[in-house]
Amino acid sequence: MTEEARRTRTAFVKPRLIAGNWKMHLTATEAAAFVRAFRRALPPGVDADILLIPPFTALDAVRRARRDDDAFGLGAQDLHWEPEGAYTGAVSGPMLKDAGCRAVIIGHSERRRLFGDTDADVNRKLKAAVRHDLAPILCVGETPEERDAGRTEQVVGTQLRRGLHDVALDQLAGLTIAYEPVWAIGTGQAADVRQVEAVHASLRAMLTAEWGAVGGDARIIYGGSVSTHNARDFFGSPEINGALVGKTCLDPDGFATLCQFASSA
Ligand code: 13P
Repeated sequence: MTEEARRTRTAFVKPRLIAGNWKMHLTATEAAAFVRAFRRALPPGVDADILLIPPFTALDAVRRARRDDDAFGLGAQDLHWEPEGAYTGAVSGPMLKDAGCRAVIIGHSERRRLFGDTDADVNRKLKAAVRHDLAPILCVGETPEERDAGRTEQVVGTQLRRGLHDVALDQLAGLTIAYEPVWAIGTGQAADVRQVEAVHASLRAMLTAEWGAVGGDARIIYGGSVSTHNARDFFGSPEINGALVGKTCLDPDGFATLCQFASSA
């Protein structure tokens, strides 16, 4: 592992990670205003790793609005597996790195469902992320039909195994898995803490069985309608190492409150 990679991985050292996935929201102008408002709302000394994950077009605005002493870093929502080339509309690992990103979401269910990302694509993207020293946040999650059929653990286990296929063990240091049940995303109906704990425990057991120490080191976070009303329940569980947040992260005050809850849990 390169020195740069080691620094990227060890940059995540807090007990919990709170990542705000802006999805396709906020222009570059709005993003700069968001950063100023979020900085004002965030209490000093928050003890959590915090990531802002804007659309590609707002990465630079967030980076410029950010100050060196700000407690939050920058991530991206997706990447292409090739470093450059004739891939209209795509953005590569080196481009994200140059834009100031330290992490990247891979395999979000919206990418899988709406843009056709397969497990093989997810695997290629994950390998590209680690190759370019971006910390991967690998998303897994079942549909409502899969949960009703009792297939949740099988589905997320397959996504995990295929996502990490053939990735060198030392590349998996600092891995983050985001468990995001499709039925809980954007519905206002978050999963129950017990449901999340059961899936996280099965993901961790699989990681430990197949990748040894990675199982103990990986962070497993939850996403799906996390809000200021339910976040404390999730952060109170030792199985849940943080949150990947959609809607609530677009409100600077609400997102700052989540970060504060994660810090004090
Ligand atoms: P919501 O918090 O809006 O449900 O979105 C979750 C999500 O998909 C984060 O990646």
